[in-house]
This record gives sequence, structure tokens and C-alpha cells, in this order.
Amino acid sequence: MLQCSPGPDSVIVSSSVRVKLLASMYYGRGVSTFQWPLSEDDSAAFEEDAGGISRYASDYGELLTEGAFHMFQKAGAQSGQRFYDLGAGAGKVVALAWMEGLNATGVELSHFRWDASRQAIAHLCNSHAEEMPESATGSLSYVHGSIFDLNFTDADLVFISSLMFSRRMIAKIAETARWLKVGSRIVSHYALPGPEFRELEEFQAATTWNLDKVWKMQEVVRNPETNESRPSGLKLWNQFEAVRHCNNVKDTGI
Ligand SMILES: C[S@@+](CC[C@H](N)C(=O)[O-])C[C@H]1O[C@@H](n2cnc3c(N)ncnc32)[C@H](O)[C@@H]1O
Repeated sequence: MLQCSPGPDSVIVSSSVRVKLLASMYYGRGVSTFQWPLSEDDSAAFEEDAGGISRYASDYGELLTEGAFHMFQKAGAQSGQRFYDLGAGAGKVVALAWMEGLNATGVELSHFRWDASRQAIAHLCNSHAEEMPESATGSLSYVHGSIFDLNFTDADLVFISSLMFSRRMIAKIAETARWLKVGSRIVSHYALPGPEFRELEEFQAATTWNLDKVWKMQEVVRNPETNESRPSGLKLWNQFEAVRHCNNVKDTGI
């Protein structure tokens, strides 16, 4: 249970401050069905990414704010934990995770969408620094790049809005996720395959395309044998060239 969200009623009260700040960060687009379209360069990047296994993966939709709070509660997210949104879009879920006290990172392949998160973080740091909630004690960062290049194995909670991801993408994400800490949790549309993952439960959390969207929650129950090698060439979030990080936010590192 989150420190700032001890019960359903207080979630609604405490979340209103965060909803307001999110709206400020996104110039009034905190809750919207805006699609954040792809640029030509973005389309080329999706073509090239991971040998073309992500054909429809650029399709857009967002987890709504209350849906995000519900997910954090369901996953038992705790202040100080590390959160990743793999395919973060314009970065709202990441911002909300940070407001809940998590060390939050989003990775997004579309430059246009990543740029929206970059602008939001700049706006937050420059114009709303005094409004940052006391609960936001972790770090907030947005990486421009591919999920398949990111080392997210230090996560406590991973969110993957994977409805439009291909089977091969899910398998490739699982290759890295197998090395997540035992006990860490994954919330996604498609369950990650492999003996390292146990399905915990399904729950509903609203999105821009379905208010009753059902999500699967898995837990990492073991890691691969020690003679197996980890995926190579992955970078930690702070090793990417294009990272935006709010300087006003205390960075607890990784
Ligand atoms: C359905 S949207 C979800 C956005 C956000 N997570 C949310 O729920 O509000 C999925 C996002 O994943 C991004 N994406 C797809 N494949 C990716 C990849 N290989 N690396 C990084 N981002 C990717 C897409 O561009 C899209 O913005």
C-alpha cells in the first residue's frame, strides 16, 4: 500500500493534487485522448527496431490517471521502489509513479512522444517546482530509445501496455525480465512467458480506449540458472544519450 494512499477515499482526495499537477505539466492535456502522432523519423525507427518485430507497436493509448493509481495499489508499490514504463508514450504514468514516491523511468521509441515528456518535465522543473508533492522523493527520468536496449532488471514494478506488441516482442522483453529481482512485479496486457514468472491476478484499470481494461499482474519467482548469460549490450537508463531528468528532483540513483 502506498504511504499517501491508505484507502480508497483518501486515494481520491490525494490524487486530485496529482491530477492537477499532471494537467499543468501537460498544458491541460493531463487526461486526453490525443494520440501523439508519429513523425516520419519515428515511423522509420519503428521499422528498424529489433528487426521489424514491432509493426503495430507504435499504436497509441494511455492508462488513465485513476487507472494508474489503481495499478500502483494493486502492485503494492512502495515509496523508494523503482518503476519502469516500457513504452511510456508521453510519460504520464511515469510522472504519476514519481508523484507516488517511486524512482520512475519511462522509455519511448517515438521521438515526438518522448519530446512531449521532455517538455513536461522541463515545465515541471521550471514552472511548478514549488508544487511538487512531498511524496515525490524519488527520481523522474525519460529515455528516448528502445525497450530492447534498456537494462530494467533493477525494477520493483514494470508496466507494459503491450496490447499491440507482437508475440516476438513479448518474448524478447521476457529475455531481460527473467533477470528481474525475485518478488518484483510486472503489469501488462500479455503475460510474459517462462518459468520465472507466476501469474498473481487480473484487475481492471481504465485506459483511453477501454474503461474496463483488464491487466495481468505477474511476479518474478526465480531467475535463470547461474550458467545462463544475461542479454548483452543493454544500457542502464542513465547511460542513454537522450535522457531527461528533473534536476529539482532528488536522484536516489540506481
Ligand atoms: C499503448 S502506448 C502506452 C503509453 C503509456 N505507457 C501509457 O499507458 O499511458 C505504447 C507505447 O509503446 C511505445 N513503444 C512501442 N514499441 C516500443 C519500443 N520497442 N521501445 C520503446 N517504446 C516502444 C509506443 O510508441 C507507444 O507510445
